[in-house]
Amino acid sequence: MSASLDSLDALYRAFDGLSMEGGWHRRSPALWPEPRKNFLPHRWRFADVKPILDAAGRLVDTKMAERRNLTMTNPVEGNIYPTVRTLVAAYQLILPGETAGCHRHTPNALRIILEGHGTYTVVDGTRVEMRPGDVLLTPSWCWHSHENVGKDDCYWVDILDVPLVHLLEPMFFERHPQELEPDPVNAAESPIAFRWEDSLARLARAAAPAHGMASREIELGAPAMVTTGLHVQRLDAGFASRTARTTANAVFTVVQGRGRTIVDGEVLDWAQGDVIAVPAWRPYRHEAVDESHLVRASDEPLMRALGLLRTEDVQAAG
Ligand SMILES: [Fe+2]
Repeated sequence: MSASLDSLDALYRAFDGLSMEGGWHRRSPALWPEPRKNFLPHRWRFADVKPILDAAGRLVDTKMAERRNLTMTNPVEGNIYPTVRTLVAAYQLILPGETAGCHRHTPNALRIILEGHGTYTVVDGTRVEMRPGDVLLTPSWCWHSHENVGKDDCYWVDILDVPLVHLLEPMFFERHPQELEPDPVNAAESPIAFRWEDSLARLARAAAPAHGMASREIELGAPAMVTTGLHVQRLDAGFASRTARTTANAVFTVVQGRGRTIVDGEVLDWAQGDVIAVPAWRPYRHEAVDESHLVRASDEPLMRALGLLRTEDVQAAG
């Protein structure tokens, strides 16, 4: 056989059927100088989503959908799920009297509550209330269910690291054998619940962050979850941030206020309840019209643990 391998053409033909490729003539490169623009900057408006979610509330019950949520799929061509590479965000509605049954999964999840009182989440047997501005965690493999025992329609933003688990493969999911955890214990405080009033109090004491991306910033948890970090940022009215880029993929949720985020030249206006995708390495900056509060969820802890976190100031590219 070796006698016939006397030309490059013959050599390349010899790869056929062997699941091999010459590293020097790959169809596409394996290495490139800096992160590619694989996902697009994008903004989802809560005002657009809310009537659709309300219609889903009339048409889709909690038997038909274990969770009544609308996934924010990054609009880049060919994408069918992630919001950014490692994270997916979704709007969710739970109506008065509804219960979303108990399940658990390996992806980490968190919720940022937008509107409505009277909803509770039960996480590993502990039942905690979810109020607007609160951030609640469901770390990997914790049992969780939700129930609305009040009179308000309750809306929140879910953020999960499902796309990361898709990439890495260790997906496990199961429903609780009894549909709901029996005898949950009520708790006013819990390590998985970050209360809005506590965030405001911490922000009032916080110093201006050195990175210049917010007027004030606090971190929820240290980090909130092993893959996912959470920062609450306050932008004063009229605040204009510096311009930065980072290898961390981020999803911003607007808890309060009005402003715009300019991501790689694209101007994304936002208001309360909107969600903004800022994919890795895209230069971005914020400008607040009114005093605003954003929750930044990112894969920063993951990138840091892997030695892949790079963040830089890029004023010239602003
Ligand atoms: Fe879940």
